[in-house]
Amino acid sequence: MSSGTEERKAPAIQLRPSRDEDVDAMLAIYRYHIRRGVDQAAYQASDPLMPEDIKRRRKNMRNHRLPHLVAEISGMIVGYGYVVPFRKRPAYRYALKHSIYVHHEYMRAGVGRALLPALIDASAAAGYRQMIGYIDAANVASIRLHESCGFREVGRLPSIGYKFGHWTDSLMMQRSLGPGDTSLPDNWPEPPNEKLAGPVSD
Ligand SMILES: CC(C)(COP(=O)(O)OP(=O)(O)OC[C@H]1O[C@@H](n2cnc3c(N)ncnc32)[C@H](O)[C@@H]1OP(=O)(O)O)[C@@H](O)C(=O)NCCC(=O)NCCS
Repeated sequence: MSSGTEERKAPAIQLRPSRDEDVDAMLAIYRYHIRRGVDQAAYQASDPLMPEDIKRRRKNMRNHRLPHLVAEISGMIVGYGYVVPFRKRPAYRYALKHSIYVHHEYMRAGVGRALLPALIDASAAAGYRQMIGYIDAANVASIRLHESCGFREVGRLPSIGYKFGHWTDSLMMQRSLGPGDTSLPDNWPEPPNEKLAGPVSD
């Protein structure tokens, strides 16, 4: 018999690799946050992301076995997250940066807390050692989420951005993956992902 005080079960969050058919839903989530502007992405507002950009990124990441995930609730895409190389130069080949976006109607429902650990686990399993996020210093939700997933602030870039009429700081939050820097990589000194290491400026 029901006591009448049982908590209602929250709908289950399912994670899976993203597909091309998900691109419109991902873009809609992304564009909402760009307009609101608390995310770093707001800096790109004059250079809007297009469906082809997401498709290309997905393909690129899939080719390198890096996670590009969506979260679903009852079949609806409610968030997505992915990692990309921190930098393309070979010295940084064990470091990744990541992004997470949650549908505005599903925020604070555990979607970010499902996506971020999944990105961490998949990246660690693939042999990466460090993960870094650049987060707007005003983005309390993201900062708390990252803290709860083992990230710590490792740097602040003061007044690095300008949006909506004022200067903004960025935080760099980082955590290690797997053994981190406590051991050298197995395939040292060979890069695991040489294809990622194209000529770049950073
Ligand atoms: C930041 C973001 C990814 C968090 O995802 P989310 O699904 O809303 O967060 P969750 O429900 O999984 O919350 C996980 C934890 O994060 C923290 N958190 C989330 N929202 C918060 C808020 N509004 N205020 C303070 N802390 C918050 C809490 O510690 C929370 O745990 P709790 O609910 O047990 O207290 C989401 O708000 C988002 O997509 N924001 C816009 C885009 C963005 O900023 N992306 C990150 C760029 S770095």
